[in-house]
Amino acid sequence: MLPAVRKVNRRTNESGVTMALDLKGCRALVTGGSSGIGAALAVALAERGATVGICARRAERLSEVVGRCMEHSPDSRMWVVNLADPDAVDKLAVDVMDAFGGVDLLVNNAGIPKRRHVTALDIDTITAVMHVNYLSPMRLTLDLLPQMLARGSGTIVNISSIAAKLSAPGEAAYDASKAALTAFSEAMAVDLWEDGIRVMVVYPGVIDTELFTLPDNDVPDLPVAAEPVSVAVDAVLAGLETGAAQVFVPEWFHGVAANKEKDVGAFLEGTASYVRQQRHQKQQEQTQ
Ligand SMILES: NC(=O)c1ccc[n+]([C@@H]2O[C@H](COP(=O)([O-])OP(=O)(O)OC[C@H]3O[C@@H](n4cnc5c(N)ncnc54)[C@H](OP(=O)(O)O)[C@@H]3O)[C@@H](O)[C@H]2O)c1
Repeated sequence: MLPAVRKVNRRTNESGVTMALDLKGCRALVTGGSSGIGAALAVALAERGATVGICARRAERLSEVVGRCMEHSPDSRMWVVNLADPDAVDKLAVDVMDAFGGVDLLVNNAGIPKRRHVTALDIDTITAVMHVNYLSPMRLTLDLLPQMLARGSGTIVNISSIAAKLSAPGEAAYDASKAALTAFSEAMAVDLWEDGIRVMVVYPGVIDTELFTLPDNDVPDLPVAAEPVSVAVDAVLAGLETGAAQVFVPEWFHGVAANKEKDVGAFLEGTASYVRQQRHQKQQEQTQ
């Protein structure tokens, strides 16, 4: 077991504002660490000296990732857990605290898309997505917050999605869950501003992971080429370094989100036109 109470080193700028989280000796928990962004980020954190805990449902995939973490950070651990189960989330928090004695950095990364047209959605699907993408990370956050508050330090990184800002078509349940995650994160950042707790929201655009080939999901028409996972990891690490409140991956998506806000009606009309063209093109390809 690691030491129970440890002040995490942070740098401050000339105004006394917290800038960076020192990853060396930091105790990090990354949910959804069995693949994609979570797996790569877990290894990157371990490489930088963090003791990393990862969790997800697929034990074999977790074993492989935690093995890579342990090469750099031998106390790293894994937990097999279904985050859709609220009791399992609470148990995870207790188990991680028992093993690490505290969590300095919580990365709520696990997520599911359930991509489908709104007319194919049902309330059970919407609820399931909300549980994994919103309620579970908030539950885990509330479970781990008291020990951060007691120490007067802690960093919470919530992996949202550009879909929260752009309301991507064909995935309304997912978009809404990520928008909820964003709103909670920003309000929480304000509430905790004076307590030494930093909250960062990450907005990946299209990153090359298994998210786009999961079963029980529509195949998406991706409007841009997928970026490698390393781009997302580097952006998160850079955000931690500067103490950023939000990170877009890639950064130019920030401009797209800002443009949408200038004329939401025109943006939605343009998106509908793009979807219509894509559908038309697909129909033509099928008839050839
Ligand atoms: N890839 C992108 O372009 C993109 C864009 C925007 C946002 N994001 C967000 O980035 C995060 C990581 O996704 P990714 O792209 O890296 O896809 P991924 O490879 O599919 O990773 C998703 C992770 O979440 C875990 N997970 C899903 N349901 C779970 C559950 N019920 N209990 C525990 N763990 C669960 C998965 O593990 P198990 O299956 O082993 O449980 C996996 O480790 C997600 O929140 C996603 O919404 C991704």
